[in-house]
Amino acid sequence: MNIIKARNLACPIDGERLEYREKQLVCENGHVFDIARHGYVNLLPVQHKRSKHPGDSKAMVSARAHFLNSGSYEPVANKLAQIVFSQIADNKETCFMDAGCGEGYYFDYVLNDLEGKKVCHDLSFIGLDISKAAIAEAAKRNKQITWVVGTNRQPPVESASVDVVLCVFGFQSFEGFHKILKAGGRLILVEPGPDHLKELREIIYTEVKKTDPPDLSYLEEMGYSMLDRQPLQFKTGVINNEQINNLLIMTPHFYRASKQGREAAGNVQELDVTVDVVFRTLEKK
Ligand SMILES: C[S@@+](CC[C@H](N)C(=O)[O-])C[C@H]1O[C@@H](n2cnc3c(N)ncnc32)[C@H](O)[C@@H]1O
Repeated sequence: MNIIKARNLACPIDGERLEYREKQLVCENGHVFDIARHGYVNLLPVQHKRSKHPGDSKAMVSARAHFLNSGSYEPVANKLAQIVFSQIADNKETCFMDAGCGEGYYFDYVLNDLEGKKVCHDLSFIGLDISKAAIAEAAKRNKQITWVVGTNRQPPVESASVDVVLCVFGFQSFEGFHKILKAGGRLILVEPGPDHLKELREIIYTEVKKTDPPDLSYLEEMGYSMLDRQPLQFKTGVINNEQINNLLIMTPHFYRASKQGREAAGNVQELDVTVDVVFRTLEKK
C-alpha cells in the first residue's frame, strides 16, 4: 500500500484547493497556511472559532493519550480497523478522514492495521480536530497522516472528495460530513452504548441512565442510508487510580459530574469498567 499526502485540502476562507509549496499550503487566491514544525497545518480561521482555544485542552489530550496508550480500549480500535477494511473498494485511490481525531490513537491504529493487510493502492489519511493541542500530539504519533486543525462543521476539504469519514466519540456534523463525502462514501460512527462506563458513572452520579445512541432515521432525508450496526461490549480489566482519573478526564463526564462526583472517582483505587460501544456505518446516497 502506498500512503500519499492528502491532495484534497481546501482553503478555509474561499474553499479553493490548497497546493503544497515548500513548508506552506497555498490557494490560488493567495491565502497561505504554514506547515508547523511537527508537520500539521492549522486551517481554522478565527471566524470559525467559538472560543480562543476550542476543543479539548492539553490536560484532556494528555489524559486520553495515557489512557489509550495503555491498551485498555484496544478492542474498540481493532473492531474499527476491521470495519474500515471491509469498506475499502479495491484498486481505487481512497481518502480517509478521522473527524474529531483527538490525539490520533484510533487513526494511527487503523493505518497500521491496513499496512499489515497489503492493500495495494494509494491511500491518504486526514486527521482533523478543532483542538490544536490534540493535533500537535497526533502529529508526533504518525508522520504519514495529514494532520489538520479545523472544524467538522466546515471541514477544510474539497467537496465530494473523501471515501470514508470516521467519527469516534467525536463531534458529529452530518452536514459537514455530507459535503465532503463522495457519493457512495461511508460514514463510520463510534458511539457509547447504554452500559458504557457504567461502573464509573455509578460512582460519579446518584442516578445512572441507560441511553442508546440517538435514532438517525432523520438522516435519510439528508441523503444518508444506514448500512450496518454492530455492538461491542467488553471489560477493561482492573485499572488503577491514575487510569480511572485519566478515563474520567477524557470523557464529557468530567464536566457533567458534580464536584463530589469527581472527588468520589478520584478516591477509587481500582475499577473494572464496562466498555459498551456501538459502530454504525452510513452511506452517502
Ligand atoms: C471525546 S474526544 C474524542 C477524540 C478521539 N476521536 C478519540 O476517541 O480518542 C472529542 C474530540 O472532538 C474534538 N472536537 C470538538 N468539537 C469539534 C469540532 N467542531 N470539529 C472537530 N473536532 C471537534 C475535540 O477537540 C476532541 O478531540
